[in-house]
Amino acid sequence: MTSKYWSPVVSKLTPYVAGEQPLNPGVVKLNTNENPYPPSPRVLESIAQSTGDELRLYPDPNSQKLKRALAHHFELANDQIFVGNSSDEVLAHVFQALLKHDLPTLFPDVTYSFYPVYCGLYGIQYKTIPLTASFEIDLDDYAIPNGGIIFANPNAPTGVQLDTDLIEHFLKRHSESVVVIDEAYVDFGAESAARLIDRYPNVLVVQTFSKSRSLAGMRIGFALGNKDLIEGLERVKNSFNSYPLSRLANAAAVAAIEDREYFEAVTRNIVRSREELSAALRALGFQIIPSMANFVFASHSGHDAGFLYCKLKEQGVLVRHFSLPRIEQFLRITVGTPEQCESLLLALKAICLDECCSATLQGEK
Ligand SMILES: Cc1ncc(COP(=O)(O)O)c(C=O)c1O
Repeated sequence: MTSKYWSPVVSKLTPYVAGEQPLNPGVVKLNTNENPYPPSPRVLESIAQSTGDELRLYPDPNSQKLKRALAHHFELANDQIFVGNSSDEVLAHVFQALLKHDLPTLFPDVTYSFYPVYCGLYGIQYKTIPLTASFEIDLDDYAIPNGGIIFANPNAPTGVQLDTDLIEHFLKRHSESVVVIDEAYVDFGAESAARLIDRYPNVLVVQTFSKSRSLAGMRIGFALGNKDLIEGLERVKNSFNSYPLSRLANAAAVAAIEDREYFEAVTRNIVRSREELSAALRALGFQIIPSMANFVFASHSGHDAGFLYCKLKEQGVLVRHFSLPRIEQFLRITVGTPEQCESLLLALKAICLDECCSATLQGEK
């Protein structure tokens, strides 16, 4: 559809479609990689303390307390930190501030499907680089003229991690390109490239509070990098929205960063559940790509992924299925609590058994 009142670019957009947020609380929700555990009690307390008279006032436009907390956590300077209303928003600014050049921006053919959407919005040319047959990023394939490079690490929706030493090797040889690493899922056992920031002025790391810190509902993201890259992002942010983080979001984020113990306990639990879930799915005949994220990417040679997705949904279990080249036979399943994982496995067992029985019956006819 279109409207004569839209600007020309709007008619041509293909917007991102977010995973479903069902209104029914009874659904086993394993479709948008949220954390199944609540935020830290210190976060909830800090939010509660911020819901008073001060809400009359605008928040700190520069989120100084949060930048200080992040700088301390990552052993960086305050001017190496950028914060925004979700990492989606930070990424949007990254595309506009750092990846819009005359040459195409490069990203993998299978990755976060928001990247081509930002390119459409900002009129950025891009070229996708195929992952290897085992769904890995081979950085040698990115050694071509480009207007910047972006990939998720661990990648989404595969969960595959690229070694930080390989990233460093690439940064050393390609100082002319900005390399943006989207680390939305880095806290579930992968290594962050944040340690490279002081040595490589062309690397930018983007992270979120949505996954490992259980704050998807608060919308908080951030970027870490050389101060010139950060200044570029600040220029776009201050030409768009001076106050991206509310008072509540600032308070929640500071408390979340400071409560390391809770963060470590929650991420440890999810890593343990991921390994248990992967083993249980393999026992049901699924192929699982080894994941370093809070989800697993699973396929079954005997069952169509689209069919499994629909059947699971009928049984009140939501997972994510992408009808996209190379991955249409996979399901992306968020690691839930042990109880949620058990519900998923029971539903899958019933669906697979049912399908096998009807296939046998048809064969007997
Ligand atoms: C790879 C990747 N990057 C970024 C995001 C955005 O996270 P948020 O906007 O919640 O910070 C997501 C969300 O699922 C993601 O999968």
